[in-house]
Amino acid sequence: MTIKAVVFDAYGTLYDIQSVAAITEQTYPGYGEAITQIWRLKQLEYTWLRTLIERYESFEAITEQSLAYTLDNLGLAYNAGMFELIMDKYRNLDLYPDAMATLAQLKGRKLAILSNGSSAMLNALVRNTGLQPILEATISIESRKVFKPSPKTYTLIEEVLGVGPSETLFVSSNGFDVAGAKAFGLNVAWIERVTAQALAKEFAGPAPAGALTMFKALRMRNEHLGVSPDHRVSSLTGIPAIVAAAD
Ligand code: LAC
Repeated sequence: MTIKAVVFDAYGTLYDIQSVAAITEQTYPGYGEAITQIWRLKQLEYTWLRTLIERYESFEAITEQSLAYTLDNLGLAYNAGMFELIMDKYRNLDLYPDAMATLAQLKGRKLAILSNGSSAMLNALVRNTGLQPILEATISIESRKVFKPSPKTYTLIEEVLGVGPSETLFVSSNGFDVAGAKAFGLNVAWIERVTAQALAKEFAGPAPAGALTMFKALRMRNEHLGVSPDHRVSSLTGIPAIVAAAD
């Protein structure tokens, strides 16, 4: 079956969320890694908790609330200026180095983002990083008022692009998103940026495992939820070959 649409997750897949570490470290020397990892872990937890308690708030609000949680619990004081400086990085995240070339090679297919991000955050990010002219659509889950991996979010792809699940390849590095998209019925490619072997080495190494290693173990591996991706590649550069092979 031909792949007519390739839809990417944003944070962690096209955009390197670890790139906030430069700002968190600069603002709180010695705490960059702890802030970066606890913040992202909490941010995702809050998307699931708010979905379960049925108290939706935008991803922008959740990103602020999880940053406040992180700084409060690390005993770090902040003012509005420091807070805004860190939050601003979310509108200017680094693209993974292979993102632009991969998207260019996929020219001719419908290319889009489906993200938990609010439209305001995503549109700023896509504009600031030059992806706007390349993408057919930047789809936020906000109209659904629930977050991925709810199946209600993945239905937005067909609604916006007019391409059904069997002709869509969904690409994510986030294990929970891979499981959600596959359970929904999309073709799914998992970007396996961290292998189990590399992770085992980090845990076995002479230095105690740090916050980044814990993050990798908790969020960058495939979930054991009874659904597996159709494809696994180590970076975005593997995606064009998957699409071409389906022609
Ligand atoms: C997103 C989060 C899941 O972009 O990374 O939707």
